Amino acid sequence: MEWTKRHLLDLEGLSQEEIELILETAKSFKEVSTRDVKKVPALRGKTIVMLFFEPSTRTRTSFELAAKRLSADTINIAAGGTSTTKGESVLDTARNIEAMNVDLIIVRHASSGVPHLLAKNLQASIVNAGDGCRSHPTQALLDMFTIKERFGRIEGLNVGIVGDILHSRVARSNIIGLTKLGANVTVCGPSTLMPRDIETMGVKCSYRLEEVIEQSDCLMLLRLQLERQTQKFLPSIREYAKEFGVNKAKLAKAKKGIVIMHPGPTNRGVELSAEVADGEYSVILDQVTNGVAIRMAVLYLLLGAKEPAVVLA
Ligand code: CP
Repeated sequence: MEWTKRHLLDLEGLSQEEIELILETAKSFKEVSTRDVKKVPALRGKTIVMLFFEPSTRTRTSFELAAKRLSADTINIAAGGTSTTKGESVLDTARNIEAMNVDLIIVRHASSGVPHLLAKNLQASIVNAGDGCRSHPTQALLDMFTIKERFGRIEGLNVGIVGDILHSRVARSNIIGLTKLGANVTVCGPSTLMPRDIETMGVKCSYRLEEVIEQSDCLMLLRLQLERQTQKFLPSIREYAKEFGVNKAKLAKAKKGIVIMHPGPTNRGVELSAEVADGEYSVILDQVTNGVAIRMAVLYLLLGAKEPAVVLA
């Protein structure tokens, strides 16, 4: 199939075939990062700006590496360094950046809908690097890539997503992507951190972690999004860790070959123990590695590169 989209705002807007095309394209890009010279000329002459209004380690770094490995020119702008601190709106800031003839803007913002607002008003391609509680499409894509790499498929797998479902853009994007690709998704967490209508998204809901651990091929653990919680949702972090934190003892009844995932940043001792984070089932660092390949694929497809995706070493 041919790629026709100009923006990547969320996974609602992508068909199953488009998601699969991104995953396939990423497969060919993954090898580039293992070369001595980690660079292909696919986006030579293109300019990509990263506009991050929220902190980030993995997403920002891997987008920048992805762009550089495709030979694009990159500029990295953090919120504190922009004139939004002097009252300029996000839209005006983005319009001014676009006026310098940039081809693509990657944006992360605490408010849901900011990437959509920019896409409506700018000519440049927009990529959502996380907006509020709503979407984190490239995180879900790299998670799906990692699952497919491990199991050879996504269809028919049981995936448990555990934690602060209410405030998690990673959970929402993964639910949309994984169900489109035929996975059976169960969400699990405290009732206060569970959206009331979550089952309308095509998932099962459980409040019993042991039950979810037993049935899952893949368990995705989420951080408590304390920065987005506007009231007290939990008696204490300790209570949460006792009830919903995953440790080695709780994994005793897990399926053989269960895969443990986490988008990061992790809070060791809260949503998972250190021995689980670093243990034999964890693919957390594989997720990070795959983030570069997925973001290379997204940038390559959106900028309609005419050069072949991968030039042989
Ligand atoms: N998973 C993720 O979005 O991590 P960062 O906040 O470090 O980008």
